Amino acid sequence: MSDRKIVIFDTTLRDGEQSPGASMNIPEKLEVAQMLSSLGVDVIEAGFPVVSPGDFESVHKIAQVVKGSSVCALARCKDRDIEAAWDAIKDAENPRIHVFLATSPIHREYKLRMTKEQVLENTDHFVRKAAALTSNIEFSAEDASRTEIDFLCQVIEVAINAGATTVNIPDTVGYAIPAQFAEYIRTLKTTVPNIEKAIISVHCHNDLGLAMANSLAAVEAGAGQVECTINGLGERAGNCSLEEITMALNTRRDAFHASTGIVTRRLVPASQLVSGITGLEVPRNKAIVGRNAFAHESGIHQDGMLKNCMTYEIMRPEDVGFQKTDLVLGKHSGRAALNDKVNQLGYTLTPEQLNKLFEEFKVLTDRKKEIYDADIQSLVQRVLVKETTKYSWKLESYSSASGTGKKPVTSIKLSHGDFFVETESETTTGDGPIDGIFLAICKLTGLALTCKEYRVHSVTVGHDAQGKVDVTISFNDREYRGQGLSTDSIEASILAFLDAVNRIVM
Ligand code: KIV
Ligand code: ZN
Repeated sequence: MSDRKIVIFDTTLRDGEQSPGASMNIPEKLEVAQMLSSLGVDVIEAGFPVVSPGDFESVHKIAQVVKGSSVCALARCKDRDIEAAWDAIKDAENPRIHVFLATSPIHREYKLRMTKEQVLENTDHFVRKAAALTSNIEFSAEDASRTEIDFLCQVIEVAINAGATTVNIPDTVGYAIPAQFAEYIRTLKTTVPNIEKAIISVHCHNDLGLAMANSLAAVEAGAGQVECTINGLGERAGNCSLEEITMALNTRRDAFHASTGIVTRRLVPASQLVSGITGLEVPRNKAIVGRNAFAHESGIHQDGMLKNCMTYEIMRPEDVGFQKTDLVLGKHSGRAALNDKVNQLGYTLTPEQLNKLFEEFKVLTDRKKEIYDADIQSLVQRVLVKETTKYSWKLESYSSASGTGKKPVTSIKLSHGDFFVETESETTTGDGPIDGIFLAICKLTGLALTCKEYRVHSVTVGHDAQGKVDVTISFNDREYRGQGLSTDSIEASILAFLDAVNRIVM
């Protein structure tokens, strides 16, 4: 039996970005979209343009810049949603409008206040409206897994008649269980008369930890598209994880007879990029991309591995993008070696970007003897995001003194604006050096900030490892994230707070 090609629809930038703490700015979204395209994702759901001017702008930019993947925008069954979605994506190589309407009794009665007939009429009307703009139309029956199956079949038939080329069956609240969900897909396949004109898609949430099992069950039952996200990000407990579904289909071709176009050795870099940008760490034991996913600790396992890797490994770490050895470069490494490493990690830089990276790399090699993959990855991300982010507050210098029984004293000098016009400094005594930094930054910037979260961790190993600081601050009831990277953890903290401040004033 020949393999079926499963369409991979990534919604990291839409459903993923809706998850608390995962919001991204426009340069970051663009960076993720480029990575998704180089990963081989078929459809990138770039966002929900009607929601805000910022959402519109990011989808519009992605549509203009990203090549090789279809770019999709979400729209409710409303005129202005469909118009905004189309305006945002019309420049894309292969634009897709994704129209959705809830179909379950609870959504019909309490959320939409619509009868079944009204749901059918709206589906027909708005799918037709979208289909008049482009031929690539997806329709989602929100909360499909809690919808009466005969009504769901009716809605799907109407959507296909109106021009939907993909029909999505979301398990919106993560309620489905694999056997029942597969039965839904089989029923749609056998009952809806025009079903052959569309691809059946599934979109599973992970509230019961079943997103992956339900997606696989649906593929076995005939679904041709899976919606998923990098690291399983998404509303509440998240969505089906892209890396897991890809590797399950790849590793168990014997069972699923299906394949994807995903370049699997880019999975780990993609996961690290998204985690680096959002500050949402990947659990060490996360399947496929967690740091422990290929680590063998027990003596029996290590013995087996030495004799034959296949005793305890069903996939090779290098196939998903882990490097065999990740000790890479040092003080004497040149630009070409750096570029080679960058390419191996899945990034392609322009000569100007490589120059900037090389400068930062040289600064780092003065501070740190051995440079690891994770160091390079952090630097690349910083260069790429910095390039398109306008920084108004910059750190010029700082000093911080603390000791047992002493009040810490922090002095920070910042510059403001493109030119070094306003340079100020402030000395503050706080509860500790981090408190001192934070208070000084509030005074210097004149912003009344609240620190919501502060986390520090090392990027690699060793006493000279780079410290990465993630902060969340709030200003005027909105939260902003920031990241700082340095071998000096106080400096990394200042950079993280300034990164967050710059997002407020951007
Ligand atoms: O979970 C859901 O139902 C969704 C739809 C908009 C596809 O995200
Ligand atoms: Zn969803």
